[in-house]
Amino acid sequence: MSVIPSGNNAKVTVPELLQRKSMAAADFTKNKITCLTAYDYPTGRLLDESGVDVVLVGDSVAMVALGHDSTLPLTMEEALHHTKAVRRGVERALLVADMPFGTYHGDVHEALGNALRFVKEAHAEAVKVEGGERRLEVIARLVEAEIPVMGHVGLTPQSVNAMGGYRVQGKTSDKAEQLLRDARAVEAAGAFAVVLEGIPRELAAEITRSVSIPTIGIGAGPECDGQILVLHDMLGLTFQAPPKFVRRYANIGEIISQAVREYCADVRRGAFPSDAESYHRARVLRMDEELTVNSDCDW
Ligand code: KIV
Repeated sequence: MSVIPSGNNAKVTVPELLQRKSMAAADFTKNKITCLTAYDYPTGRLLDESGVDVVLVGDSVAMVALGHDSTLPLTMEEALHHTKAVRRGVERALLVADMPFGTYHGDVHEALGNALRFVKEAHAEAVKVEGGERRLEVIARLVEAEIPVMGHVGLTPQSVNAMGGYRVQGKTSDKAEQLLRDARAVEAAGAFAVVLEGIPRELAAEITRSVSIPTIGIGAGPECDGQILVLHDMLGLTFQAPPKFVRRYANIGEIISQAVREYCADVRRGAFPSDAESYHRARVLRMDEELTVNSDCDW
């Protein structure tokens, strides 16, 4: 029996994404998986209603929404808070929560406890962890506990200090071999998908051919089974030049600035609020002998 949804409004599930991988093998232009990040209720709801397949509450929230200069400071409580908000807006898409740096790097039982919190408290349907071979044990443990896991290899932002900056990974043949092993380890551990970030297109294509789980690219070329972007990057809601792989679909930052400039100008010259935007005292109207009170109290 097919688990592919019959209509556009069908719930996106882990088995359905896995089945799309096998169908994509037949025609790679079909069934591409669309993913975007969201950090709050309105963006989660807008993405869901616009038909995106996977909504990731990325730890990028630390940089783009909380103003940190890396993803490392994000805490469990902050990540849970944002995941709960997005959850209220997302019904159809698969909701994945990114596990913050330090919440799955030590004891495996602690990692399990943290992952369970995303499922039980924030109602995430899956979690994402960064790293390949080194994360085999933790991924396997979470999967064993029925928590679907999305892997993430290549340029893993939580390794920024170890990598010495945000640099494209896997450029030499040794490094490329290691990344192939990493992706295979994530698959072997039971992950249902793997993000490939900041790696050469040719390597991403090879990994995509080599694993049976969907690959989701970001700065990894078009041959991946799906693509993800940070929503604020594609909407122009960040304050520095975006990386090469980002396509700007809108400049919402400029739209917000322009609207705020107009509002301030209107307030300063007394043009806002107008009489039509104001409430009025109740008026008593005489109609024949009847008295009617116009209370003017509706919003
Ligand atoms: O945190 C994030 O937004 C991510 C995606 C870019 C994959 O990890």
